[in-house]
Amino acid sequence: MIFSKSRLLLLLTLLPGLAFRVSWAQEKCGTVAYQEIRLHRNPRLENTDQFEKWMKDKLQSRLKTLSGDRTQSSTYTIPVVVHVIHNGEPVGTGTNISDAQIISQINVINKDFPRNNLDAVNTPPEFLPVAGSMDIEFALAKQDPEGLATNGIVRVQGTKNSWAMVDNDTFKALSYWPAENYLNIWVINLQDGGLIGYTQLPVSNLPGLEDSSTDRLTDGVVIYYRAFGTNDGGGTFDLESRFSKGRTATHEIGHFFGLRHTWGDINSCSGTDYVDDTPTQIGSTSGCPTQAEVSCSHDKMFQNYLDYTDDGCMNIFTLGQVARMTTVL
Ligand code: ARG
Ligand code: ZN
Ligand code: CA
Repeated sequence: MIFSKSRLLLLLTLLPGLAFRVSWAQEKCGTVAYQEIRLHRNPRLENTDQFEKWMKDKLQSRLKTLSGDRTQSSTYTIPVVVHVIHNGEPVGTGTNISDAQIISQINVINKDFPRNNLDAVNTPPEFLPVAGSMDIEFALAKQDPEGLATNGIVRVQGTKNSWAMVDNDTFKALSYWPAENYLNIWVINLQDGGLIGYTQLPVSNLPGLEDSSTDRLTDGVVIYYRAFGTNDGGGTFDLESRFSKGRTATHEIGHFFGLRHTWGDINSCSGTDYVDDTPTQIGSTSGCPTQAEVSCSHDKMFQNYLDYTDDGCMNIFTLGQVARMTTVL
């Protein structure tokens, strides 16, 4: 090995033209061989023809999208896995929330991000010019990391009855799917000073994301089980009334795609979320204001998903926020 390497080095040094040809002739890539071995071991794996067909379909729908016909498919489909860390109750009771509650949550984010939410009509007219719609779809995973069929929901009994943020690594280690392939959402009994959710911000060179963790094993979103899902449309899930419309996940997934709080986490007009079309405001807004509120000489956009108002008052991502999320994606 060493011997042949040094001979190649000699050729490279003395005969650049010849050396180029030698190294070109030696150039090899193991991808095809690797694929064949995998196929041999597991004949049910997708073969090359199947892959090429899939790719052709993808390219065609992509071309349709680019040519303005966006009815065929969304640009992004995000496979989601929901890890329910429960306390041993039967499914549908207490912390072991039902499939229906989880599906209701997926439906909310599939409306909020593309701005198909019914309460988009409540966005004040002054903010309509900056209202953004994201071409994205969330889907509970259909394949688990082994390639087996799944409904995208994992139920695991926890080793504690309630969790705080300091337990982050512990409950995430109880159930986790590779963050390269899934958006991990942990639904837990979060008891930590009123916290109803938090998110690991993405790794990016955008401003405001400098301190993001690079730990893939903890990448994802955490939500309190009584703030996950919606009772809109007649549901009777055990949800906190202020957070009963699924907007905690909208807010947290906004963070997951790189959004910061609209007030910039600083209580002054110089706080920034690094997004131009979200107005500056001093501090967060809580509850549900019934009329416009002025801050920093303009109306606050307290309807923004990245403020702190109650679920029923939130209804907008801006064009700038959508652009930032798209950049992160
Ligand atoms: N407090 C949480 C956070 O900072 C989420 C707030 C979500 N608000 C809501 N109305 N659901 O990430
Ligand atoms: Zn937040
Ligand atoms: Ca802003």
